[in-house]
Amino acid sequence: MSANRPAAVVVLAAGEGTRMKSSTPKVLHDICGRTLVGHVVAASRELDPEHLVVVVGHGRERVAAHLAEVDAAARTAVQAEQNGTGHAVRMGLEALRAEGVRLSGTVLVTCGDTPLLTGDTLQALADVHAADGNAVTVLSAEVPDATGYGRIMRGEDGAVTAIVEHKDATDAQRAVREINSGVFAFDGELLADALGKVSTDNSQGEEYLTDVLGILRTAGHRVGAAVAADHREILGINNRVQLAEARRLLNLRLVERAMLAGVTVVDPATTWLDAAVTVEPDALVLPGTQLLGATHLAAGCEVGPNTRLTDTHVGAGAQVSNTVAVSARVGEGASVGPYAYLRPGTELGPKAKAGTYVEMKNARIGEGSKVPHLSYVGDATIGEYTNIGAASVFVNYDGEAKHHTTIGSHCKTGSDNMFVAPVTIGDGAYTAAGSVITRDVPPGSLAVARGQQRNIEGWVARKRPGSAAAQAARSAGGQDSGDQV
Ligand code: UD1
Ligand code: CA
Repeated sequence: MSANRPAAVVVLAAGEGTRMKSSTPKVLHDICGRTLVGHVVAASRELDPEHLVVVVGHGRERVAAHLAEVDAAARTAVQAEQNGTGHAVRMGLEALRAEGVRLSGTVLVTCGDTPLLTGDTLQALADVHAADGNAVTVLSAEVPDATGYGRIMRGEDGAVTAIVEHKDATDAQRAVREINSGVFAFDGELLADALGKVSTDNSQGEEYLTDVLGILRTAGHRVGAAVAADHREILGINNRVQLAEARRLLNLRLVERAMLAGVTVVDPATTWLDAAVTVEPDALVLPGTQLLGATHLAAGCEVGPNTRLTDTHVGAGAQVSNTVAVSARVGEGASVGPYAYLRPGTELGPKAKAGTYVEMKNARIGEGSKVPHLSYVGDATIGEYTNIGAASVFVNYDGEAKHHTTIGSHCKTGSDNMFVAPVTIGDGAYTAAGSVITRDVPPGSLAVARGQQRNIEGWVARKRPGSAAAQAARSAGGQDSGDQV
């Protein structure tokens, strides 16, 4: 645990985010399997703050409901009208105080729309803040294009004197490339005090949190800045172009983490990882692969190309190609695809196979059993070392309810079978090709459930005289005309 544990983290997330042009509040947009605010809360949690409060406003019911899901210990404070970042922090502190929280110690302020910010950077900020004995430390960054950001003003001695908002800045001030990330460490008591003195005398008529720096400095307190090592970490999301850019950057970070953990990623640019994905060494990820949710790749498996796995566990040495899978488990050495669709509840045992154009749902396939071609397996249990013939359908739905099919071990079912559930096929049984299996098959028997074949000879010559088919039949020595039937 950190030596500089903050008393509180206040996450600002009340703004509307109009430039997203969305019915969803900005901070609830998703990158890499987490909402923007979810990323910020997760990074803040790494510092183990005593209290974490998220200031909500626009779409507050939805934001609060989401927070309750992802971080039940987070409190929310309502900022009914968005009167500025200073006002928002004031609402956050008042909510804490109303619950009897005393803010002696460090209070960190972060924004709900900076998803790339890491716990490490926040910790570095808290450490600098404590080491320098500052009243406030701003996380700043040198950026290539400072348009829209508040600029960090420094005196001749290099000390931070103030932050000037872009809209309020002179041309000379706008030339400054060091900007305010919107993330701060404060002395909690001095912050509460200074917020009471912030005016709305600026171009936007808002209470600026940034004014606290000038107020504290004028009162003789130490004001400092910690410069972020990588300016991309403080990228704030205002529109969907920035959303895509943040997703790309975060994805690259996650792909690099996987590679450093021993995974070969053939094409980082077309490989997409969610934050919760876990990997083991020597997994191989081929181009065009999305690994989502809590997907896990075990050692030596091969996934892709063109595959999307959600909350799916891929066992050691398994191969999954051109596949979509959701909440599935793929056993050790199993093989999936190309072109398979594994739906929730699919469990492939070790060395099992779900082959080409195969869809499975709520199906347990035992060790070494294979469903190689063109089949639907829904609501089924299959034993070990059984082979299911091509083009088979597990007929699980009678129009009202779903029913289960059980097939034993070491069975060989014929191609183009329908298993009309509920039905059970015993160990070691066979079924004939083209069978519609409606009754249980005892172990070791052969089930034949199809019409008898009859050949009506000479039918073509009689019914399609003069056709190419009739000529071909004649050349082959077939009858000119057959018996009446
Ligand atoms: C703010 C900073 C600016 C900094 C930039 C970094 C101020 C006055 N300006 O500007 O110096 O460079 O962030 O991205 O602080 N929010 C509320 N309630 C409000 C207003 C804002 O909760 O009343 C939240 C927003 O949801 C957002 C964050 O505060 O998460 C920043 O607000 P935003 O309006 O984006 O501030 P900027 O103008 O970008
Ligand atoms: Ca912003």
